[in-house]
Amino acid sequence: MRIIKKVSEMKALCTEIKLKQSGTSKAPAKKSNSIGFVPTMGALHQGHISLIETVKLHSDFIVVSIFVNPLQFGVAEDLNAYPRNIEIDIELLKSIGIDALFIPDTEEIYPEGYNTYIELPNLSNVLCGKSRAGHFRGVCTIVCKLFNIVIPDIAVFGEKDAQQAIIIKKMVADLNLGVKIITIPTVREPDGLAMSSRNVYLSPQERKEATILYQSLQMAKNLITNGERDTRKIKAQMHALISSSQTAKIDYIEIVRKNTLVSLDTLDTLSSELLIAIAVWFGKTRLIDNITVSC
Ligand code: PAJ
Repeated sequence: MRIIKKVSEMKALCTEIKLKQSGTSKAPAKKSNSIGFVPTMGALHQGHISLIETVKLHSDFIVVSIFVNPLQFGVAEDLNAYPRNIEIDIELLKSIGIDALFIPDTEEIYPEGYNTYIELPNLSNVLCGKSRAGHFRGVCTIVCKLFNIVIPDIAVFGEKDAQQAIIIKKMVADLNLGVKIITIPTVREPDGLAMSSRNVYLSPQERKEATILYQSLQMAKNLITNGERDTRKIKAQMHALISSSQTAKIDYIEIVRKNTLVSLDTLDTLSSELLIAIAVWFGKTRLIDNITVSC
């Protein structure tokens, strides 16, 4: 596994792979040589590993990045406290077997005078974007930059961050980036809590109570399956269930059309997929989760 810190080196390596792909380098053209990419912020867990296992099924040269992107954190958010386990992450990635790990520092990605940003206002100002102003602008900017450096054929993202995956797919389409985006289902702890690098912040009581998130999503899904069509009633029941835990403070509970993220009052005329998405604070930790429902 090559560990690369410089943009120029990462880009040169991936360009060489690309040239082999098209048969224009000195090396003989291989049938595939496709580049598969998983961008992360590190503190790797089983959710990240599932993304890497998935990308390995679809591509030949595997690149993972670890970069805690300051641009996607608000001023009052947890950038400095964000868990960083680089040595452990490196050992884990070596044992999984990837080709290159890209770990640039902040100045390498955003040198002085950096001034270009990517925004998708309609999809970014709802759900998590409401309480995290500028978050998706930061995500889109870094993901687009990483795509330009790694030049992947395929990139894999988790449905755990459903809004992020939807926004990235739209950015790729709008900007003709030519990267195939694959998403994988949320990987959960045995008690249903979605795996997240932020789960380490939870106190034992918060960790115990955080299982209410997935329970509330499953309850909502059952209500819809059993015929409930009034989203206000569904959200009210979710609200009551989550509020029954002492440490939970709800940021949002939303039921939206999955492709547009437009909020729905009634599900009567619906033919597309629904996304039920929640964000809840447990003490100082904000956790998100979601579930997709067809109705
Ligand atoms: P990070 O939170 O490290 O997540 C990296 C990838 O892992 C994302 O695609 C995320 O959706 C996925 N992931 C996280 N937890 C998961 C789980 N429990 N099951 C399945 N997939 C999971 O998301 C980011 O980093 C950043 O915003 C990034 C895209 C790297 C841009 O900075």
